[in-house]
Amino acid sequence: MDANINNTEVKKKTIFSGIQPSGNLTIGNYLGALKNWVGLQKDYNCLFCSVDMHSITVRQTPAELRRRSVETLALYMAAGIDPEENILFIQSHVPAHAELAWVLNCYTMFGELSRMTQFKEKSQRHSENINAGLFTYPALMAADILLYQTDLVPVGLDQKQHLELTRDIANRFNGVYGDTFTVPEPYIQKIGMKIMSLTEPEKKMSKSDLSGGSVGILDKRDDIVRKIKRAVTDSGSEVRYSEDKPGVSNLLTIYCAFTGKTIEEAEKEFDGQGYGTFKAAVAEVCADALGVLQDRYNEILKDKDYLNTMLKNNAERAAYLARKTLSKVYRKIGFYQPK
Ligand code: TYM
Repeated sequence: MDANINNTEVKKKTIFSGIQPSGNLTIGNYLGALKNWVGLQKDYNCLFCSVDMHSITVRQTPAELRRRSVETLALYMAAGIDPEENILFIQSHVPAHAELAWVLNCYTMFGELSRMTQFKEKSQRHSENINAGLFTYPALMAADILLYQTDLVPVGLDQKQHLELTRDIANRFNGVYGDTFTVPEPYIQKIGMKIMSLTEPEKKMSKSDLSGGSVGILDKRDDIVRKIKRAVTDSGSEVRYSEDKPGVSNLLTIYCAFTGKTIEEAEKEFDGQGYGTFKAAVAEVCADALGVLQDRYNEILKDKDYLNTMLKNNAERAAYLARKTLSKVYRKIGFYQPK
């Protein structure tokens, strides 16, 4: 496949984003990230990655990681991302990510990494394995983004701090060596940017939660409905978005993110109806939307040959673009390159 991008594409701005293939993707991942990518793809040059190298900062079962790395990309496609128009690839297939990460590690401060909330949380949760990769993870994430001269990074709210660090690293490097990296902007949608756990609505919904607080994109309809119907609300009965009603507010957010309605419209719709009716409606829109996605996903997974060819072609396209930035960086920092 021709690795060059054509003239019309050159004028478009670039988007990069990724999801770790480390657990069952949740409706948090879908509503906070994936769903927004679908709407952006026609206006930008997009690279969407399954970031397997990030996943090994926490112990993975090799066979599962291998399977999920591809399945994550199949989910991107099922959600509506076109693998011909965009570059969908697995991070470890493009060695430039690891190479640039090493360089950026040398331009990232210990103090900056120590302040990262995700590092603090994960090192508490995995206290038996606080490895160096977990600590330097944001430098690899910065490499992912900066390699492609990315303008915009569509993510959920929890990644904002990593994005700010990426910007600081890019500015620092550009300050020393002159313009090298585009300084990226985060793109965070208001509705859906932080989907909370259904059982503990003060906590973020997460892939690692197996207790019923997370709805998996691939969950069965019955499970989706059961989890939403059991979601924690409060002792009142009014369907209203408010800080003192975190459970109801979260369900309203989920409902609006799936239907495209505003919070006010949803509040009006359920005015005077109890939580039971409201939860049943949320469960239905969620299960319907995921059902459509799951059907497409199962179709896509049937054609392994297509997936493998797509992966190889797209890794080549990504590697070509990444190499351009990496060569520039190596030249600027003083690595000898024979002519
Ligand atoms: P990850 O795999 O934890 O999550 C993938 C995406 O889903 C969003 N997200 C959520 N959004 C709303 N509510 C939630 N409960 C929720 N949970 C997750 C995340 O914000 C993210 O957008 N470090 C990243 C992966 C990454 C990356 C990158 C992202 C690696 N390199 C470069 C963007 C650009 C991560 O762990 O995401």
